[in-house]
Amino acid sequence: ADEKRLEGKKVLVTAGGTVERIDPVRYLTNDSSGKMGFAVAEEARRMGAEVTLVVAKVSTAVPAGMNIVRVESTMDMMDAVLARLPETDIVIKAAAPADYRPTERSEQKIKKKDEALTLQLVKNPDILQAVGERKTSGQFVVGFAAETQNLEAFAMDKLKRKNCDLLVANDVTAEGAGFGTDTNAVRIYDKDGLVEAPPLMSKAQVAQRLLTIVAERLTRKEGT
Ligand code: PMT
Repeated sequence: ADEKRLEGKKVLVTAGGTVERIDPVRYLTNDSSGKMGFAVAEEARRMGAEVTLVVAKVSTAVPAGMNIVRVESTMDMMDAVLARLPETDIVIKAAAPADYRPTERSEQKIKKKDEALTLQLVKNPDILQAVGERKTSGQFVVGFAAETQNLEAFAMDKLKRKNCDLLVANDVTAEGAGFGTDTNAVRIYDKDGLVEAPPLMSKAQVAQRLLTIVAERLTRKEGT
């Protein structure tokens, strides 16, 4: 029964980088390949969960055997996640949503003209924070954090601010960790501090470690 520890659970995973359109042919995005989120989604399915995968821009094949919801922008991802939140037991936010979007989206292709072009951006809503605010006592929320400095301090701040049960921090400057790679080096935190700091391993193995902790804690939460 160890294998199917998430049987009967509904898991929502986000993956990929969101896309913010500037004009009909140009956009802002980031280097997320979707690999980390896909690994988590596949492992959750293997553990018996019913998985919904909210996918933004990715550069690798979307896994089979789960509900796929395609989104483009951070606002789209927010709508998709919040609409499904009431029936979700576990939310895992491995996506890299753009923090800003162009204030205006040009209907026509922007013409080359002056030497300098200024693009004005406006802040996007924070999906994880919105989830954290709505979280019920039975729901379990895992955030990710991509940092280039002060990993622990920034991770703990995000965990508390966004009301997560667990936060997976990756130093995206470390060799073999973060965006695009098949491996990751993470540190997993809860509100009391460091839970686990596994060595560099495949994203599939990171997903396995993470979901083992989630399953244990969910069982404890339910008191079964
Ligand atoms: O996709 P890969 O190539 O495999 O790369 C994996 C990864 C590096 C993208 C992944 O491991 C990761 O760290 N994902 C989180 C990236 C990120 O957006 O980090 P952040 O520190 O900016 O955001 C913190 C958390 O808030 C994240 O869970 C993020 O999904 C969430 N967030 C951020 C901004 C926003 N507007 N809404 C959000 O919900």
